[in-house]
Amino acid sequence: MIGLRARAQTTGCCDHCTKIIVMAVLPLVLYPDPRLKQSCSQVSSFDKHLVRLLESMAETMYASNGIGLAAPQIGVQERITVVDVSPEGTALIELINPVITASHGTTPSEEGCLSIPGFRETIERATHVSVSYQDRTGNQQTLHAEGLMAICLQHEIDHINGTLFVDHLSRLKRELFKKWFAKQQNAPSRM
Ligand code: NI
Repeated sequence: MIGLRARAQTTGCCDHCTKIIVMAVLPLVLYPDPRLKQSCSQVSSFDKHLVRLLESMAETMYASNGIGLAAPQIGVQERITVVDVSPEGTALIELINPVITASHGTTPSEEGCLSIPGFRETIERATHVSVSYQDRTGNQQTLHAEGLMAICLQHEIDHINGTLFVDHLSRLKRELFKKWFAKQQNAPSRM
């Protein structure tokens, strides 16, 4: 999910810096890549490869000015997402095998997605969600969220189920999205 954060570059001089150097900003999988439509696999290994993946996902999210990123957006079909809705980019949460266990309320939510750059539209989301997930060590955690955090969690958990925010559009808005996308395809490269 796209946010509006201007993030200062991480600097420092501790053992963490070594990690920052090896972390990679990965290329994003873009709509209409079929990998974005697949339901992802459960994670069962909580090892150093998972840690490396989580760190690369966070780095990719921050580099893209995102407030959330799901593994299929970097071509990994596993149930993993990272989110950070704080304005400063200092409240990273890593969620492995997340499941929404309860939700209530509805609110309009204007969203964008790093995999559909340039498109924003309003859909409906729950105002409150409870999410159970595992952290990077495999420990079970529970999170109760509202506001932007609740919306971001719904957006990212949708991703690992192969659902994009545009899949929630009304038929009319979906047609407008398709027209918008066709226009992007025909336009000269914006890269
Ligand atoms: Ni997204």
